[in-house]
Amino acid sequence: LAPKDFRGKKVVVTAGGTREAIDPVRFLSNPSSGKMGYAIAEAAYLRGAEVVLVSAPTHLKASQGIRVIPVISAQQMYEAVLSEVEDADVVIKAAAVADYTPVKVAEHKIKKGEGNLTIELTRTPDILAELGKRKKVGQILVGFAAETQNLLENAKSKLERKNADLIIANDVSIKGSGFGVDTNKVTILSRNGKEILPMMSKKELAHRILDRVLNFMNDFTAK
Ligand code: PMT
Repeated sequence: LAPKDFRGKKVVVTAGGTREAIDPVRFLSNPSSGKMGYAIAEAAYLRGAEVVLVSAPTHLKASQGIRVIPVISAQQMYEAVLSEVEDADVVIKAAAVADYTPVKVAEHKIKKGEGNLTIELTRTPDILAELGKRKKVGQILVGFAAETQNLLENAKSKLERKNADLIIANDVSIKGSGFGVDTNKVTILSRNGKEILPMMSKKELAHRILDRVLNFMNDFTAK
């Protein structure tokens, strides 16, 4: 039986890959299945937390006690997360959020033409960075970094730039790690150092991440 060590805590989790509409029948997205984020949401719920799961489209179903806010685009995820963050103790951003979105969504299905098609893209809001700016004392912010090269350098830079407490550095080029699969291989980074974890199930990793979050929360209450 899981310890109820998150009782009384509100945990906001994001999961899945956002979809950025091109026209009514097409979108830009990525292969995130939502498994990592849902595993974290379930683990936090089992451990007694009030869990809000902001979910981009996935095939997964959350336990009844988890409050799911379904979203589609990065902009919608931004609005949903910001509306829940005020009284959150922990925010964990496992979602794969699009960095770019089409400038214009075509009103009707785009028809084939003779030449190439160019779609102009614009930046989406960076949710993690915004949360870092608004972070309250005692609030714990956990981001992921999905990388295919310079894993630790890029993850460390995200920790600093986005004012996160933990970054889960996720090498998505290793077989069995990252998008779609049931296992993951990560290194957990904080300002105090790093912890290299072996490949493990996303369910087990979810608990390991929550253990680290708990250490952080206990540090705050001890001060
Ligand atoms: O869903 P699965 O199939 O289980 O796959 C899991 C996963 C590979 C999606 C997950 O483990 C993971 O690595 N998630 C983060 C993917 C990602 O978008 O990484 P990033 O390095 O591009 O973004 C860094 C962080 O900023 C992430 O916490 C992301 O949620 C956040 N972000 C990114 C862009 C943006 N506009 N706003 C954000 O908040």
